[in-house]
Amino acid sequence: MDQNDAGIFGERIKGQFAARAEDFEVSANWVCDARLIRAHVEAAGPPGGEALDLCCGTGQVGRALKAAGWAVKGLDLCGEMAAVSSRYFPVSTGAAEAMPFASGNFQLVVCRQSFQFLNVPKVLAEIARVLVPGGTFILSLTVPFCGEDAGWLSKIHHVKQPLLLEFYTAQELVEVLNRAGFSVVATQEFRVRESVTQWMRCAPELNAGVRAQVVDLVKNAPAVYKSWHDVQVTDGEVLEDWNWVVLKTVFHPQDKG
Ligand SMILES: C[S@@+](CC[C@H](N)C(=O)[O-])C[C@H]1O[C@@H](n2cnc3c(N)ncnc32)[C@H](O)[C@@H]1O
Repeated sequence: MDQNDAGIFGERIKGQFAARAEDFEVSANWVCDARLIRAHVEAAGPPGGEALDLCCGTGQVGRALKAAGWAVKGLDLCGEMAAVSSRYFPVSTGAAEAMPFASGNFQLVVCRQSFQFLNVPKVLAEIARVLVPGGTFILSLTVPFCGEDAGWLSKIHHVKQPLLLEFYTAQELVEVLNRAGFSVVATQEFRVRESVTQWMRCAPELNAGVRAQVVDLVKNAPAVYKSWHDVQVTDGEVLEDWNWVVLKTVFHPQDKG
């Protein structure tokens, strides 16, 4: 069994998100950020058939696509997360690496803030399989602003998330997509303001020492990191900006490297 199919890694992912499901939507501002969600809906274009919210969590992106007129389905490994999103659209429980869907089923696949947990080559092959020819795949993730904050941000993410398989820059995401035959046709990048203190209040999978370490890594970051992320301490809350990239892609089998 591969690393993050149904093996031990998958069980750890399920356990982590089961514990976080209840507070997930208040754990960070990005989860319900209207501008960020709208960026996905705009990238999707006019509704035209079935859309898959891949690793849908509580289904914030899928809900917005449904409101825009798409027929949405979801897939998530974690039953507790799927229990929330399935209040809004049909959600299957399973691995993105082996999707329980027929080939050529979806006009659109969207995957927000989940690539760091996935066996990406396998998942991209699955996305290519379930998309109709010429279908759209929208990928979004928090990434460094540039080379100057990348090293410190990677350190923070590795301390915060022991299940992180890969830390991506925006450029690395584009390269991974291109190698799998996906061409980026539109890119949006913008900031979402977050409380690192709140993020850590909603991380029950971490012990108190690790939660404090994450807050300290941001609070006492190198000056160049603080400048890019606009780190501030207000009323005891450590605040910073996160950089988001939303990539709209199309799959061209002939481009596969
Ligand atoms: C950070 S949450 C993002 C949820 C949602 N995409 C959103 O933007 O609100 C990551 C989600 O990916 C799911 N996940 C992680 N690994 C997965 C896998 N291999 N297959 C399917 N879902 C997975 C988790 O259960 C979790 O719900």
